[in-house]
Formats: sequence, structure tokens, C-alpha cells
Amino acid sequence: MYIVFLGAPGAGKGTQAAVVAKKLHLAHIATGDLFRRAVEVGTELGKQAKSYMEKGALVPNKITIAMVLEQISAPDSKEGVIFDGFPRNLEQAKALDEAFKKQGKAIDKVVYIKVAEEELLKRLSGRWICRKCQTPYHDVYSPPKVKGRCDKCGGELYQRPDDTVETVRERLKVYFSQTAPLIDYYTKSKKLVEVDGVGKVNEVAKRIVAAVRN
Ligand code: AP5
Repeated sequence: MYIVFLGAPGAGKGTQAAVVAKKLHLAHIATGDLFRRAVEVGTELGKQAKSYMEKGALVPNKITIAMVLEQISAPDSKEGVIFDGFPRNLEQAKALDEAFKKQGKAIDKVVYIKVAEEELLKRLSGRWICRKCQTPYHDVYSPPKVKGRCDKCGGELYQRPDDTVETVRERLKVYFSQTAPLIDYYTKSKKLVEVDGVGKVNEVAKRIVAAVRN
């Protein structure tokens, strides 16, 4: 099963992808996490991606598409994948469709996680991420048991440099102009299911699993 999670910055794509991938035994490919890891390690990919991420802009399609195509050829992706943060524009969506077509595969469902803008801003301003395993936390909504430490792996929690008010504004702009048109694209191919992203994490996860299985 191949599923795309679509939604604005802060909609809960990463949070939900981690939960749902475990439930459905799927691999989780998060382009943002892959880029952040590459930046942290200082690889060539990280050096190329850094300046775009800092501004809240999209990393060029050529780089992003090549990275994802490599990931989907990996053995863990054989049983299916949840794509979190990819595709992000029409060119990426078409590239994924084409690559899958060549392999006799197709996207099964696109889950559009819908959250109002005011709530997105609250979520991003209080977000903390584990440096080691990338698990997201929130000051108010999902605080860690020990301040500054990840419940899962004990890693250090940090605030993403692109979660500042100015960069979030830019990321939302990019989302509405480049990514939101994908809602139409996947509605036309009858793959889109809309899920209310507001509520407790496990409630939203239940909605997503039901929508995917339907
Ligand atoms: P990326 O990391 O993908 O960022 P994003 O899409 O902006 O999404 P976020 O990670 O901010 O939000 P999310 O929806 O995953 O929410 P989360 O679960 O964390 O991309 C970062 C950058 O990388 C891009 O700007 C770009 O430069 C580059 N990039 C990535 N992909 C690319 C691509 N395909 N093409 C080109 N460039 C690309 O939740 C947010 C917060 O809310 C957390 O604190 C969480 O604890 C909390 N929360 C979650 N669910 C709930 C809930 N139900 N109730 C209350 N709080 C909740």
C-alpha cells in the first residue's frame, strides 16, 4: 500500500505518519527528516538543501525527486510506504506517478489532513523535535515526560530553525501556492480522502486508518 500524507506545515503529517506506519506495517519516508539529517551530518545533499530550508522554500525538485526515488527502491519500502511531505508540487507528483508506473505500482490513497491556520501556528510555535529519532513533541499538546529529552530514545529535543514566525509564514505561503493544488490533482484521480486533523493524536490516527481502509 502506498499512501501520501498531504497537509500544511504543522498539520500533523509527521506525528500521524509515525503512528499509522507502525499500525499498517509500512515504511515512513519523510523528506523533511531526510533533509534535516543530511544537514546535521553535513553531506553534499545537506549542503544543497540547507539554504532553501532556512528560508522556508522548497528544495529544488531535481534533488528532492532523486532522493525519494532512491528511497522507494530500498528493501524496506517493498511492502508499502507512507510519504510524509512528498510530493509537494505538481512536478514531484507527476515524477512519483511515472516512477511507480514503470514499476507496476500506484499511489493507493492520499490523506489530506485538514487543520485551520490558527491552530497550525500554535502547533509550530510550541514544537520540539528529537535530534536523534525526529519524534515531534509540543509544549502543551504532547510534552515529553522529562523536559528536553525524548521519551522514546532519550535524545535531546530542539526547536527547528524554520519554526520561527517569519519562516513559518513563508512556509505557509509556499504550501498554499505550490502544494495545495495537489488537493485538486488527487481529487481528480479519485485518490484523495480528507481527514479532520484536530483532536487527540490517537483519535486522528483512527480516522486516518478508517479512511485508508475504506
Ligand atoms: P517538513 O519537515 O516536511 O515540514 P512541513 O511540511 O512544513 O511539515 P512540518 O514537519 O512542519 O509539520 P507536520 O505536518 O509534520 O506536523 P507535526 O507532526 O510535526 O519540511 C521542512 C522543509 O524541508 C521544507 O520547508 C522544505 O524546505 C524541505 N522539504 C521537505 N520536503 C520537501 C519536498 N518534497 N520538496 C522540496 N522541499 C522539501 O506536528 C506539528 C506540531 O503539532 C508538533 O509539535 C506535534 O506534537 C503537534 N501535533 C501533532 N498532532 C497534533 C494534534 N492532533 N493535536 C495537537 N498537537 C498536535
